[in-house]
Amino acid sequence: MSDAEGTKRFHLFANWKMYALGMKSEEYFDQFFKSFPEEKAQKLAEASIGFAVPFTKISSLYSLFSSKGLSHSLYAGAQNMHSAEEGAYTGEIAYPLLQEAGAQWVLLGHSERRTLFGEQDHEVSLKARACDQKHFPSMICAGETKQQREEGKSDEVVASQISIALEKVKDRSRVWVAYEPVWAIGSGQSATTEQVAQMHKAIYEQLIEMGFEKSGIRIFYGGSVNLANCKDLAQIEHVDGFLVGKASLDPTTFAKMAETLL
Ligand code: PGA
Repeated sequence: MSDAEGTKRFHLFANWKMYALGMKSEEYFDQFFKSFPEEKAQKLAEASIGFAVPFTKISSLYSLFSSKGLSHSLYAGAQNMHSAEEGAYTGEIAYPLLQEAGAQWVLLGHSERRTLFGEQDHEVSLKARACDQKHFPSMICAGETKQQREEGKSDEVVASQISIALEKVKDRSRVWVAYEPVWAIGSGQSATTEQVAQMHKAIYEQLIEMGFEKSGIRIFYGGSVNLANCKDLAQIEHVDGFLVGKASLDPTTFAKMAETLL
């Protein structure tokens, strides 16, 4: 999933969460491809578009992308995983099972996992390490709550989440970071361009300090990204991609976002 030497693409990733219930993957992508201008179709083959979908949809997405020869630019992914390779963990899912289903990447430490399911920094760290050891690409989410922002703790909170999540990761080329302020997720109110610029610069500097290669750093923004604001947000320095929830559920909107950004 990394970019070819010397090139940098804008990455557009979707997070379907626990939605898309009655939506057949075939129908979604029929509509998605139809909504993408035919003369620009080649762009899809060179793109980097990911979908973190419910576990049961991973294999249908992967098969669909493969059948169109697009699995090198459209990636099926998962929204979470357990850090162990196997074991007595009823109700959990291990990365080999995700890979077997066709997942090419996984989202880790999303704020809904942290706030609703009590996922702790050290668990995100174990998961990130497991991905690292198996060369399985992951995207680590970090972000502050409204209260933490109001208390002036945003930088500290995000820096700490990132440093704990990445402390045991050796191969930095397969791990990406998503800045997702909790208060902007699903609220319809994205962070301002100033807030995004400030935090992405801070994250970039932190990653350099942690030893990341400049060319390998990919920082995503997530939190109420939509068709109306994506162009402006994409202009910000160190914004290399988006993680899009709600707006990705509508294939026409998501295809238009892809057209705008690719
Ligand atoms: P949103 O969700 O785009 O609906 O705000 C983003 C996310 O939770 O990743």
